[in-house]
Amino acid sequence: MKVIQVRDFNDLGKKAADIIANCVKRNPKAVLGLATGSTPKTTYKELIRDHIEKGTSYRQIRTVNLDEYVGLPKNNPNSYHYFMREELFNSIDLLEENIHIPNGSAPNIYDECKAYDGLIESMGGVDLQILGIGRNGHIGFNEPGTSFEETTHVVDLTLDTRKANARFFNNLEEVPTQAITMGIKNILQSKTILLLASGREKAEAMAHLLNTNNVTSAFPASSLHQHDHVTVIADEDALSLVYRLERRA
Ligand code: PGA
Repeated sequence: MKVIQVRDFNDLGKKAADIIANCVKRNPKAVLGLATGSTPKTTYKELIRDHIEKGTSYRQIRTVNLDEYVGLPKNNPNSYHYFMREELFNSIDLLEENIHIPNGSAPNIYDECKAYDGLIESMGGVDLQILGIGRNGHIGFNEPGTSFEETTHVVDLTLDTRKANARFFNNLEEVPTQAITMGIKNILQSKTILLLASGREKAEAMAHLLNTNNVTSAFPASSLHQHDHVTVIADEDALSLVYRLERRA
């Protein structure tokens, strides 16, 4: 696992966008695995800037998002469909038909999971997967205890995760109780992975991830130790409790 330390949230966005834009230029038909949440926001902002200023094109790029809440319509401002449009898709030249996000309002969410696995496979897998990390070590919505063999599935969100995400809703009751998420198996099948972390509130999780190489389902992000091409980009605050680190700029 390669770790790149950056100064702050803005620098995180610049570094991550640099890596993603380079991937797109090297492989204009790449499949990008995308994430939502606060963490990728500066990254998406920088990708938009790069698209406008340098003309990096996404016309042949296909995207698959990690997860979506169950029961929120696509036009709900808290849905991940909405988030992705606002934060990235509306501002780059990605084609509508190449955008894929699990449908949390599908009539049968279990069939939707199967179809999503099939979709990823039919695209030849993900070339570059972007991940955030939850305070409890979740990646996507794979909560502690999830088997590493899981593919796309329906999860019951933990109270901790719902509380962490309640800041986007009017109150905790409004936060959906379930989500559809790619499984850890899907994530580990990505060719390369970029894990992003920013802020003091991620410091314990980053210490958990980086201070040992222990792999345990109790801390889902530890599964990434089993993958050969993971790059972590994290800022000083997020790495403030990590002591076993050869930091690379
Ligand atoms: P955040 O969420 O980027 O909003 O902190 C990350 C995650 O929970 O995976």
